Amino acid sequence: MPNLLSSLSRWGRALAALSGLALLSGCDLNFWRMDGHQSTIVVEGPVALDQLKVFYVTCWVTLFIFVVVGAVLAYATIKFRAKSEADEHAAPPPQGHGNPLVELGLIGGSVLALVIIAVPTLKSIWYTHDVPEAEKKNAYEVTATGYQWWFKFEYPGELAALDAAGAKAPLVTGNELVIPAGRPIRVHLRTVDVIHSFWVPKLAGKVDMIPNRANFLWLQADKPGYYWGQCAEFCGDSHAVMRFRVIALAEKEFSEWREQQLGTARSVAPRAAEANRPKLQVAALKAFRQNEAGITDKFDRNPVEAWLAKQLPEKNEDPVLIAQGRQLFTTKTCSACHAVRGHGSMGIQGPDLTHVGSRSTIAAGLIENNAEQLRRWLRDPESVKPGNKMAKAYRDNKITLSDEEQVALVAYLESLK
Ligand code: CUA
Repeated sequence: MPNLLSSLSRWGRALAALSGLALLSGCDLNFWRMDGHQSTIVVEGPVALDQLKVFYVTCWVTLFIFVVVGAVLAYATIKFRAKSEADEHAAPPPQGHGNPLVELGLIGGSVLALVIIAVPTLKSIWYTHDVPEAEKKNAYEVTATGYQWWFKFEYPGELAALDAAGAKAPLVTGNELVIPAGRPIRVHLRTVDVIHSFWVPKLAGKVDMIPNRANFLWLQADKPGYYWGQCAEFCGDSHAVMRFRVIALAEKEFSEWREQQLGTARSVAPRAAEANRPKLQVAALKAFRQNEAGITDKFDRNPVEAWLAKQLPEKNEDPVLIAQGRQLFTTKTCSACHAVRGHGSMGIQGPDLTHVGSRSTIAAGLIENNAEQLRRWLRDPESVKPGNKMAKAYRDNKITLSDEEQVALVAYLESLK
């Protein structure tokens, strides 16, 4: 059976690629391998693999029916066509009233086709519904909550430090879900506003996040890696750009990441000698088109490396600028919506930014987390993610940021490792 499945999947891939040829004349290598960031054909976990097998079974059964029906139709059309002028004017042949053998055969064949599809489908429904009994004890629990338009991730089993006094609360992150590889993850799905849908194509099929309804799914990444996720249910203006990432780490790296995240935000003390230095000259940021991509090729080629690099303090960080940014975070009222544990900011409307500097993307996975893109976001969030609440807060509270203020806030946020 596994051999049959693997050859079915090989042929399925070849067939899908060939049909793609008719549609697309580009020669993107990932396209031919069918291994894009959000491929459901080249999968990386047991849940997605199980769903892929059901897809192939359905695909081959329906293709078989298509070929048989098409062949019979072609045969009848050619064999019984009018071959001469006389044929066209001849009386119709004697009409039959059905052939019991053919009819029974068709009913039997249809039932058989449905059974062939139904058996693996039902097995897959049981398997993908929840973590298998034998692995339940090993399952790691997280909660994903959809917001217009970003994802909050909570770790109910991990108590993080809220402040220096020792208060604790469950760990919260935003837009990047870091998980241990090789372990089943149970994702509880919630929403605070409209219906969203949680989908990591390479790891598991989509499940909706529905108001007032406790949904969940499970997934597992077989090996460490970086996986693209996407909201898969229309949820308003910026639905198409409501993305997220799943970063699966080996056990050791995961526990290191966990330790770092459980602590309060990193503080960078300004050096005394620099406290009264002259004002920085800051160049204006270049203009970006609406929806312009904000991901560098280097990041796109090796996102794991980019993510790992973000875990370390930025080179050449400027303590004076960071201190200015930290102050602006309060005076510009960023702290009303965002939390930075340990720095006195406790807002809950927007993503928790305690360790935002250690994330590889910002704005719901839309743009890379680097100084330029972060500044682009701070300067004009509306042009990056139309309709978002931060842009509304800017308008309602008449918040504007000068070039110097943008740079200081970027320095502060990037320092939050
Ligand atoms: Cu959230 Cu679409």
